[in-house]
Amino acid sequence: MRRRVGVMHGVNLDQLGRRDPEVYGTFTLSDLETQVGAFAREMDFDATFWQTNHEGEYCEMLHAASERADALLLNPGAWTHYSYAIRDALEVSGLPAIEIHISDVDSREEEWRRLSVIRDLCVGRVQGKGLEGYREALSLLRATLGE
Ligand code: DQA
Repeated sequence: MRRRVGVMHGVNLDQLGRRDPEVYGTFTLSDLETQVGAFAREMDFDATFWQTNHEGEYCEMLHAASERADALLLNPGAWTHYSYAIRDALEVSGLPAIEIHISDVDSREEEWRRLSVIRDLCVGRVQGKGLEGYREALSLLRATLGE
């Protein structure tokens, strides 16, 4: 049976395509989902995509995630840097997760981007590799779940 991966985008990630192209590229969230869906199929994953701009809703998605996914790729956007609510909800999900960022958060100008409150709960982290980073994150998940 194919493993199910939930790809969870948080606040402002629905605005890809309008955000700074130097940082985020020119692709939209829908382009991203098409490409990551293809990566997932190549690696024998079934991908489901979720996005919301509402923190509580993101928490509720995490609460229910194990009903629909075996593992997660998590890009909570700016919530990454301060949301203890999302951190706690990730713990509740009980699922292995990779933290992923399109941009290289550790080398961006703003110091607050260097802190991640979910990092130590995740089995891996990929940043600064744009769309290609999602392929790397899926490989990490595959290694974690076993072939
Ligand atoms: C982001 C990085 C965050 O710092 C930022 O707030 C985002 C997107 C990324 O994918 O590079 O919204 O998570």
